[in-house]
Amino acid sequence: MKMKFKALASLTVVAATALLFGGCSSNPDSPGLEYMPDMYRSPAIEPYVDYGEIRGRINESVKTELSAMTPPNGTIPYYGTDSATVSLMLPYWRKASMAFKETHGLYGADLSLMDEYMLAAADKNPMRLTADNSEEMLKKGKDLYTAMCQHCHGEKGDGKGPMVASGAYNGVPNYADRASLSDGQMFYSIYYGKGAMGSHSSQLSKKEIWTLVHYVRKFQNPDYGKFDASGNQVMMAAAADSTTIKK
Ligand code: HEC
Repeated sequence: MKMKFKALASLTVVAATALLFGGCSSNPDSPGLEYMPDMYRSPAIEPYVDYGEIRGRINESVKTELSAMTPPNGTIPYYGTDSATVSLMLPYWRKASMAFKETHGLYGADLSLMDEYMLAAADKNPMRLTADNSEEMLKKGKDLYTAMCQHCHGEKGDGKGPMVASGAYNGVPNYADRASLSDGQMFYSIYYGKGAMGSHSSQLSKKEIWTLVHYVRKFQNPDYGKFDASGNQVMMAAAADSTTIKK
């Protein structure tokens, strides 16, 4: 009995040692023997690329397909709990016009048969301009404009940016000639593009576009965004619109 136990014990030691060293490898990059490799290393699924490969098995039919490109309809990005900001982050409810079919990078977009651009005239700028935030808002607008718009629209908003001056591009309007545009239409045009201007919906957030709408107004009326001591907009009453509020 004692002998049997001894033999069993030494056999166990030998087996354990063999197992221990069997896991070693002379290759310093090798992880050694893995008993359940798929537990240690999950397949590297990249959401935007489909290699058609899962654990060594290749699925040729999905290999060249793009996967997970667009989030499901109605997906809402999480943007904190501030209600003013959250409402800006909701999906833009106006659809691109049919006129933009197959242009402006709107492939596959839900297109409207209605003239949504005309309907957009009723949309108000949700980023309210007040005596307190005016300076900061217009400063942000200027920064965005300098980076994203000035090369076409020009430093003075006269449509004579370096792209136009170089002769590479034309048809850019002077903002002053479009003073009758409503805020909602400006937003629509910047968001979806208009004529030779492409869509900016993938480069700018809605908040940034509405900020730019305020900034464009400044080109149309230098008094835009100026407030008097009692917190009223200095701008002429005729040009004032409901997006600017008294303090
Ligand atoms: C590639 C050049 C180019 C860039 C960049 C560009 N625009 Fe335009 N923009 C145009 C052209 C061209 C038009 C005239 C479109 C038309 O009415 O056919 C236009 C028109 C507009 C209009 C008038 C829209 C309307 O409904 O009549 C606004 C407002 C405007 N742009 C703002 C912007 C802002 C803000 C930016 C920066 C985010 C910007 N644009 C970037 C070329 C450009």
